[in-house]
Amino acid sequence: MRMKKIGEFFHFNEEAYDFLKDYLFHQVDSIKNIFILVDDITYTHCLPILFHNIDFLKKSNIIKIKSGEKEKNIYTCIQICKNLEKFKATRKSLIINLGGGVITDIGGFVASIFKRGLRFINIPTTLLGMVDAAIGYKTGINLDSIKNEIGSFYIPEFLIIDTHFLKTLPDSEIFSGMAEMFKHGLISDKNFWRQMTQIQINKENFIINKNEWTDFIHQSILIKQKIVDQDPKEKGLRKILNFGHTIGHALESYFMDKNKIKHGIAVIMGIIYESWISYKINGLSLSDYKEIKSTLYPLCPIIKNKISDLIINQLLLIMEHDKKNEKNKIQFSLLKEIGKCSYNCQIPYSLIKESFLMF
Ligand SMILES: NC(=O)c1ccc[n+]([C@@H]2O[C@H](COP(=O)([O-])OP(=O)(O)OC[C@H]3O[C@@H](n4cnc5c(N)ncnc54)[C@H](O)[C@@H]3O)[C@@H](O)[C@H]2O)c1
Ligand SMILES: [Zn+2]
Repeated sequence: MRMKKIGEFFHFNEEAYDFLKDYLFHQVDSIKNIFILVDDITYTHCLPILFHNIDFLKKSNIIKIKSGEKEKNIYTCIQICKNLEKFKATRKSLIINLGGGVITDIGGFVASIFKRGLRFINIPTTLLGMVDAAIGYKTGINLDSIKNEIGSFYIPEFLIIDTHFLKTLPDSEIFSGMAEMFKHGLISDKNFWRQMTQIQINKENFIINKNEWTDFIHQSILIKQKIVDQDPKEKGLRKILNFGHTIGHALESYFMDKNKIKHGIAVIMGIIYESWISYKINGLSLSDYKEIKSTLYPLCPIIKNKISDLIINQLLLIMEHDKKNEKNKIQFSLLKEIGKCSYNCQIPYSLIKESFLMF
């Protein structure tokens, strides 16, 4: 897999648009060959910002899909491919993905298969997109209810991170991105974790000013990118990014048809439960566990209702079907201390159950 230097790969705020303009002038044959993929919300909120910064992009082809996870499927891909065909996309065309994780996942996937591969640029517009979904070379779509079952590893030309987009993002979406940022600190950078804990102590509703966001986002991206670059195809180390997600995904799936919970809330809960398991079995100190719990516990009211035995059994069933399992064992990534994480940890069922009964 061809890697790019981090400085060439991520471009921030104002500087980013100059870089993009320069790239478009030198690399793209014709403006007609540029396609911008948006959903109906980023069409309204984000496309005008992109046009404001680069006026001539108004002449490019806009492909608009409906917003939401349920659009991340093969039928939407076909619809996008038909649009590319209709507007005469060639192998020299460029796709600009302007949106959250759904848009960058599906746009990246289409870019990887249409005419055996077009170039693409990610412009994530959600916090989760900026710090997680748009980085790491994974593209993908869901197969019915199985998340990200079809996909590819495919490298964008570069990414543009413009924190102006966050102004229209609802708090609940900001929270989802923050969950991954907390995770990044916990698995590999204690200093960053400590800085993150300051945000929510000092700021109401996690709203911090744009310059601060840029710095936090930058640091969070570097943490993920560094891990991905050491193990792009998730053979080993990259698995630490799944910390909090084994239980988190099970909670998200379980609550999907009931009182739906956001990915961020599910991950925060997953981090707390998996930190407790880390304390029990992986050497995480009691004081580190307490620090994690006391920081994150107030952020998820749902956890305060005890999870019944019946639900626990269903959660275990969901975890058994996680595609990251090997040899029929549920795989966890667990903390050794704040800032250090192990992967491929197999945990007795009894301990997973116990973690749910802790609260
Ligand atoms: N490829 C990866 O490595 C990876 C990693 C993590 C998550 N993901 C995927 O990312 C997806 C979740 O990403 P997401 O949370 O960004 O979802 P999303 O793309 O659905 O965005 C969330 C909501 O915010 C709206 N939105 C986007 N930008 C906005 C803005 N600037 N202002 C107002 N509203 C805006 C969207 O229209 C949507 O309604 C999932 O499908 C997940 O599987 C992929
Ligand atoms: Zn996540």
